[in-house]
Amino acid sequence: MLDSFQEQGYAVFPDFLGKEEIDTLKAAVDAHASARPQRNAYENEQIGELTWHSRALEQVDKVMGGERYVFHHIHAARHDAGTRGVAWHQDYEQYPQTNRAHLMVHVFFYLNGLNGTIGDLLLVPGSQRFAVESNALTFLGDSDLPGSITVDDVSPGSMLIVHSGMWHARRAKPGGEGSPRFFIDMSFCQSGVKWPSYGRGDGMLADLRARYEADGGTRPWLFDEEQFFDGPRARKESKDLQGSVILDLPQWQNS
Ligand SMILES: [Fe+2]
Repeated sequence: MLDSFQEQGYAVFPDFLGKEEIDTLKAAVDAHASARPQRNAYENEQIGELTWHSRALEQVDKVMGGERYVFHHIHAARHDAGTRGVAWHQDYEQYPQTNRAHLMVHVFFYLNGLNGTIGDLLLVPGSQRFAVESNALTFLGDSDLPGSITVDDVSPGSMLIVHSGMWHARRAKPGGEGSPRFFIDMSFCQSGVKWPSYGRGDGMLADLRARYEADGGTRPWLFDEEQFFDGPRARKESKDLQGSVILDLPQWQNS
């Protein structure tokens, strides 16, 4: 599976969560999705705890090759019948997009699986190697691409680990009335470079770190503010870049 992850950029873990975990998380995602005003998913007790789920992190440890890594964000959603699709995009965090030297992964949980209703997951295995701006893919909509695959049949509680730079989409499908898909995604970044922060220091990492340590967690570096820079500022200012950014690096400035 590790070899295939290196090559293809994804790994599927069918039936990963147990029945009790699935039921608890489905109820948590349902409550989160219905809450008004909307809150950040990490604030929910059970959803937040998933960010240090020991069996999930065991697998993340492996794809990270034993290197340290840091939590980036977690989202949770209830996809009801009629939920719109999402055009092709990729979610690797970098400003501007230039390389894939360090690994960022998304961990997807399909609490009641995928069955061809509401929405299918589309992937282009191998596409994680090409550093593109995410919005460069939007015009492709959710059409099939050369080499793309459709994931529409995974069992309840399945987990997928996907290279965040892989091109993916959600294609809306008919059906699924009264049987929503409960979905959680969380992501992690390999240590060694600074990563764009999820928000602007709203205390998410400190909050999760405290809850993790209270739960007996021994790897506080999973939630380490020091490994991030101001993501929203970078997003804004990267729009103003001109010419070849490499010329701004110190070794070019001094020669
Ligand atoms: Fe995505």
